[in-house]
Amino acid sequence: MKLDAKQIQDNWEIFLNNIESHITGDRKIQLTKFYEKYADRIMIMPAAHKKEYHSAFPGGYVDHVNRVVRCALKQSELWGSEGCDMTTFTTEELIFSAINHDLGKMGDDQHESYIPQTDKWRKDKLGEDYTFNKQLAFSSVPDRGLFLLQDNDIKYTFNEMVAIQTHDGLYDSANDKYLKGYMPEQKPRTSLPFILHQADMMAARIEFEVEWLPKFSKENLDTSKKGFTLDNNKKSTTKNKALGSIKSEGLQNIFDKL
Ligand SMILES: [Fe+2]
Repeated sequence: MKLDAKQIQDNWEIFLNNIESHITGDRKIQLTKFYEKYADRIMIMPAAHKKEYHSAFPGGYVDHVNRVVRCALKQSELWGSEGCDMTTFTTEELIFSAINHDLGKMGDDQHESYIPQTDKWRKDKLGEDYTFNKQLAFSSVPDRGLFLLQDNDIKYTFNEMVAIQTHDGLYDSANDKYLKGYMPEQKPRTSLPFILHQADMMAARIEFEVEWLPKFSKENLDTSKKGFTLDNNKKSTTKNKALGSIKSEGLQNIFDKL
């Protein structure tokens, strides 16, 4: 899948509008300031480095996060309609956690996590359009995301901390301590982590289906695999002002190929 410049710009506006509409107080100002500071990086980030994963294309990150926000609101309604105690978390906590759940994927203030893959073999054979930036010290995505928030004076609640930390559910064994407690007093006291995890899983699964199921259709199975790579992505003639202002050399290079 690929997004054109207008879709990327539209997604970025939806992303900022979710902050404007759902986040309150000083942290709305701090959060907006933070995302505007890194706009040129975040708006064209992929959600993963490898096309076998979900949304590994320019603009895939914001596209994914916006979908998680929508799915989180719908999941929340479903849980509420089935009797979940909806007083244990707020809608702001739900949206804040969804907006920031994958923030750790951006890297740090100096270095991007995902940079264009230069190894042709890995790109062609392994579908890696991007590679991890070795200049970045290792951290899990949730840990880096929470670090970035506190490092930029953006406060988060206890509920938000647990939800962001555990958004991968039991796919990440680091979450066992939160999600595998047998004693009732050790279990989460809100369903927010489960709602966010389901929203994230739903979004990622749908993004996988959009990208891959057509490739398994009868017609396409007879032809050679034609995956999306940065090289065969057509150039767009609709560069707009915001996208044209990208300063990062590596990401400008990606954008030039849109
Ligand atoms: Fe995610």
